[in-house]
Amino acid sequence: MRTEKICTKRAEQSAVVCRKRVFASVLAPMRAALLGGGGIVFTDSNVFGLYQRQLKTYLAEVPVFVMEAGERHKNEQTLFALLGAMREAGLRRNSTLIALGGGVVGDIGGLAASLYMRGIDCIQVPTTLLAQVDSSVGGKTAVDFGGVKNLIGAFKQPKAVYADPAFFKTLPRRELRCGLGEIVKHGALSAPLFEKLFGAADLFDLGFLARIVPENIAFKADIVRRDPFEKGLRKCLNLGHTTGHAIELHSELSHGECVLWGLLFESRLAQKYCKADAAFAESLASLCFRVLESAQTPPLDGLQCARLDKKNAAAETVVLTVPVAAGKYELLQLPYSRYEEEIVKIKEELQ
Ligand code: NAD
Ligand code: GLY
Repeated sequence: MRTEKICTKRAEQSAVVCRKRVFASVLAPMRAALLGGGGIVFTDSNVFGLYQRQLKTYLAEVPVFVMEAGERHKNEQTLFALLGAMREAGLRRNSTLIALGGGVVGDIGGLAASLYMRGIDCIQVPTTLLAQVDSSVGGKTAVDFGGVKNLIGAFKQPKAVYADPAFFKTLPRRELRCGLGEIVKHGALSAPLFEKLFGAADLFDLGFLARIVPENIAFKADIVRRDPFEKGLRKCLNLGHTTGHAIELHSELSHGECVLWGLLFESRLAQKYCKADAAFAESLASLCFRVLESAQTPPLDGLQCARLDKKNAAAETVVLTVPVAAGKYELLQLPYSRYEEEIVKIKEELQ
């Protein structure tokens, strides 16, 4: 067991713990405190379907609010429905919200916890690979709004995150791929992790994933500790995300798949504009394709969304965090028209 502690300047403390048998070892002991307005469990329809027996066994009578699963429900309607359920359950300022689910549940749950009575405790129990290695760690919360990903949000460090590898057993391969997207991103930013990923015989093996999750959490926690509010260093975690997010809102691909495509596109831009290392770019591309298991390039109908990306500093300019060598990245700023032209050209080359 390994615990990463995050302490931000706002004196919020967050412990990220890899914990087996999370229902019996962590949630069951909290049951009494969660009853009678002490807390609520927030989850989605798929996770509820799979884990309702455990919820009934270990958290009997604790109120549960279930959202429809899926990114398209990561919006203000779901947020306000959850806030309504929190009020109905009689939550108080010292109550706790438990977000049991993937990144969608974690992001909405964290935001609701930051808003309700100006902030109550949130405990994240991430059930997807992506949520364990990325979204549950670091306190970013949000909903999508007006066609823009994560436009409304807040920084709210969870009181604790409990990551249990047992949840991977019910995850479809596509969701493993999605989490691997962020793991490959971490690999591009950390040379030792990149080596492990590149050398892995089977990136989808659950034993392998359980072993590398703690290393990924430690990597991200270290960055968040040093830059909790993304003033500088934390921007590196946006690697591949400007193009990835632009693809995501207009395609059927998952977040992680879009990040992998984002890495592929932006690594090509980095070769042209930042003199990125060609051998590294080739290794990164081969790793991305091993995870994607498809060479079918994504539609670019939503590329315009890159114009509205939160990282952009000026109108009609796109700011990208691009990979240049193992463990190295650069910020690249391009006029939007040039960016669009290049991405369309790269798509043709990749086809
Ligand atoms: P998700 O929450 O939609 O989960 C993916 C699917 O897996 C859903 O259908 C869900 O119901 C299902 N699922 C969850 N756990 C399961 C389990 N154990 N077994 C079977 N099915 C399960 O998506 P995600 O990939 O976890 O997260 C993506 C979201 O995370 C995006 O909205 C993205 O913007 C956000 N994100 C946030 C951060 C952050 O720092 N806050 C970082 C990365 C991504
Ligand atoms: N997923 C990017 C971040 O947490 O900063």
